[in-house]
Amino acid sequence: MLNIAVVGVGFIGEEHVEAIRRTNLGRVEALVGRDLEKTKSKASILGIEKVYDDIRYVLEDEQIQVIHICTPNMLHYSMVKRALEAGKHVVCEKPLTLTSEEAKELVHLAEEKHLVNAIHFNIRYYPLIRHAKEMIERGDIGKLYSITGAYLQDWLVKDTDYSWRLESEKSGETRAVGDIGTHWMDLVEYITGLKITDVNADIGTFLTKRKKPKMGVETWSGKILKNDDYEIVDIDTEDYASVLLHFDGGQKGVFTVNQMACGHKNQVTFEINGSAGSILWNSEKPNELVVGRRDTGNEIIIRDPSLVYPGARSIITLPGGHNEGFADTSKQLFREVYQYILDGDYSKEKTFPVFADGYRESLLCEAIMKSQKKGQWEEIQS
Ligand SMILES: NC(=O)c1ccc[n+]([C@@H]2O[C@H](COP(=O)([O-])OP(=O)(O)OC[C@H]3O[C@@H](n4cnc5c(N)ncnc54)[C@H](O)[C@@H]3O)[C@@H](O)[C@H]2O)c1
Repeated sequence: MLNIAVVGVGFIGEEHVEAIRRTNLGRVEALVGRDLEKTKSKASILGIEKVYDDIRYVLEDEQIQVIHICTPNMLHYSMVKRALEAGKHVVCEKPLTLTSEEAKELVHLAEEKHLVNAIHFNIRYYPLIRHAKEMIERGDIGKLYSITGAYLQDWLVKDTDYSWRLESEKSGETRAVGDIGTHWMDLVEYITGLKITDVNADIGTFLTKRKKPKMGVETWSGKILKNDDYEIVDIDTEDYASVLLHFDGGQKGVFTVNQMACGHKNQVTFEINGSAGSILWNSEKPNELVVGRRDTGNEIIIRDPSLVYPGARSIITLPGGHNEGFADTSKQLFREVYQYILDGDYSKEKTFPVFADGYRESLLCEAIMKSQKKGQWEEIQS
């Protein structure tokens, strides 16, 4: 069993705690929050004894072997850097950092320190994603032609919807692309084994002004506010983006991200079209993979250990029909990371997403923003 500390215990931090426990390979030893009293009350519900309001305490704790960083984006770089310098293995939330320079530095630092590093691109861990990857590797859908899809949400439709994600100094230069577009791009590169080489973006902010609650978001959450409780603020990050793509095998593609698409709570879709078939997946029905055929009927593959390729079988816990979902993706990702640490052979190939994948996403985001500014195709730097 590994001893783990989770830093940042908001929405995803709590999910990490639960998923870590379900791996049966990690014990949550400590929580670090911004507000000590609130973190203590969460820790008492979760049955965790060590509670701190500063990461330095878990860096100094020799019992802690792995640190999960689940704080807002602007804190990732400094926290990951300190954790690596203290000799801890790190699992970081996406995006890894706010800039590609910072991400590159962390990739090198982790290598130099021989520490295991992972980034929480959890969508890769829906079992049918692994199955789709193996289908493509085996040539089941032939030569690939096009890759299209979307990541849509509706939590920012109203001008009173507010979060730190809307503030570029906390979230980064891009919001919709950085927050959800990176999941989509990581996913399709992972499945196809292809790399995006060039991008051409059309980006928009539908609400350039929003009503920010005068009190902290955690304080007002769930309360009904009056007009006087808000201040009007300018918004400098995008609600929407459509990005044309070129891939290194000559394939073409496009994806759309939109955080103001009513009715889509949190939906990732993609379609990969090849000479012998198509693959379609929708994260809101994650236990089904549609295979489109030209000359026979289409097929729906169900997430069932007996129906999928071996690669996917290793990340399925339950039999078919017993649905697995979002929470299981983190469990499977952490299991692979922890097993790798416990095996102790760091020259072994990694099956999980690493800091280098976070660095790649930051290069893609920067190219997308440059393309938008220049109004032309932009090549991805490496
Ligand atoms: N992979 C995914 O599916 C996924 C989903 C949600 C969020 N995320 C990522 O996770 C991160 C957190 O997002 P969230 O939705 O949980 O946000 P959140 O606002 O719900 O939680 C962030 C928490 O960090 C705490 N915090 C702030 N400063 C801190 C500090 N100095 N030390 C310790 N704790 C501190 C806040 O008090 C809050 O509890 C973001 O980077 C986001 O992109 C990833």
